[in-house]
Amino acid sequence: MKKIGIMTTGGDCSGLNTVIQRLYKGASLLGWKVIGILDGTDGLCENPPQVIEFNDGTLPIESARLAGSFLHNGRVHALNFETAAKTGKLDKFNKQLRKSLVELKLDAMILIGGNGSISLAWCNREIYSDLQLVCIPKTIDMDIPLTDKTIGFDTAVQQLTSFCDQLMLTARSHHRWFVTQTMGRECGQLALNAGIAIGASAILIPEIKFDINSLINHIKKSPTDYGIILVSEGVSLRGHSGRPADIISRKLTAAGIVNRTAYPEHTQRVGDTTASDRILATRMADCALHAIENNETYVMTAIKDCQCKTVSLQKFFESGSITSDPNIPNVKTSDAYVSPENPLLDIATHMGIYIGETK
Ligand code: F6P
Repeated sequence: MKKIGIMTTGGDCSGLNTVIQRLYKGASLLGWKVIGILDGTDGLCENPPQVIEFNDGTLPIESARLAGSFLHNGRVHALNFETAAKTGKLDKFNKQLRKSLVELKLDAMILIGGNGSISLAWCNREIYSDLQLVCIPKTIDMDIPLTDKTIGFDTAVQQLTSFCDQLMLTARSHHRWFVTQTMGRECGQLALNAGIAIGASAILIPEIKFDINSLINHIKKSPTDYGIILVSEGVSLRGHSGRPADIISRKLTAAGIVNRTAYPEHTQRVGDTTASDRILATRMADCALHAIENNETYVMTAIKDCQCKTVSLQKFFESGSITSDPNIPNVKTSDAYVSPENPLLDIATHMGIYIGETK
C-alpha cells in the first residue's frame, strides 16, 4: 500500500477541490492512503507538519466543485517560503521541508501548483529525492510551459466573461466605455481569451506593444458609443506608473471618451468550477496517479495535442523563459507567454478588435 501526500501551493483558483477529490477517489480505489498537507509548503515546514488524513467523508463530492482549496494555499507565520526567501533563510526552510517528508514517510507527493511552485520544486529537487514527486499545473494565468491547459483557467475566463457581460449592459445605457483590468501577471492569455468571448473593442496584453493614439482612434471610429477595453495587469505604458487601467482611462478621458474603470480582482479566481475545468482536473488526477504507479518522479502532468501525459520537470523548466524576482534573485521561475502564433491574435484582428501594433 502506498502513502501519498497532496498539497496546493501558490494562488488559489477554481478546480483545486475537484482535483483533490479525484486524487483521493482514485488513490483510495487503488488501496492507497492519502495525506493532505495543510497550507502547502508553509504547513509542511511546521514542526510537526500540518497534515490531515483523508477518508471518504473528508471532501464530499458536492463540495468538489467549489473554488478555493480545501487544503489552503499558505499562511503568513514565522517561517514560510516568502519570509525565508526574503531573509536569506531558504536553506533552513528547505531542510525543514525534507525533514517533514522523512517524518511523514510518504511514497509520493502530488504538488498542485503554478509555475512558481513547480519551478521551485525543480530547483530544490533534493528535498523530494526520497520519494516520487508529481506536479499538477493550476493557474488562472496560463503561463506554464509545455501544457496547453492549466486547471482554473477556464473558470477564470468564464468569471471574467460573466463580469464583462453585465458591465456591457450598463455601458450601453450610459453611452460609456469600461476599461477593465484583468489578472494574469506578465501573461496575456486570460485577457485575450475573455476578450474574444465578450467581443471586447480592444484587448491589451503585455506581449504586444500598443499605441495610445491608435487605441483612441479605434474607439472614436467604433460603430457603438460603448464597449469594453480589456487590459491585462502586466501592460505598461512608458513614462507612467500605476495601474494600467487607470492610466489608460485618464488618457481616454483627456481625449473626450467617456469611460469608467472596473476591476474584477479576485472574483477571477473563484466561481463554481466549469465542467471543462472539472474534466481537466479529473484527467490530470488520473494521469498523476498513473505516474505514481509507474514509478515516475520529477514529472508534471500536461495536455498536449488533446492527450494528458507527463513531461519531465527538467523539460518544463528549460522550455520556458527563466526569470527571477528582483527582490529574491536566487529564486527562478520558468514562464510561458502568448506566442505570436496564437490563432486568437489573428482572429481578434479579423473581428475588428484593437490588440496593439502587431505589424
Ligand atoms: O498568479 C495568480 C494571480 O491571481 C495573478 O493573476 C495575480 O497577479 C496574483 O495572483 C494576485 O495575487 P494576490 O492574491 O497575492 O493578490
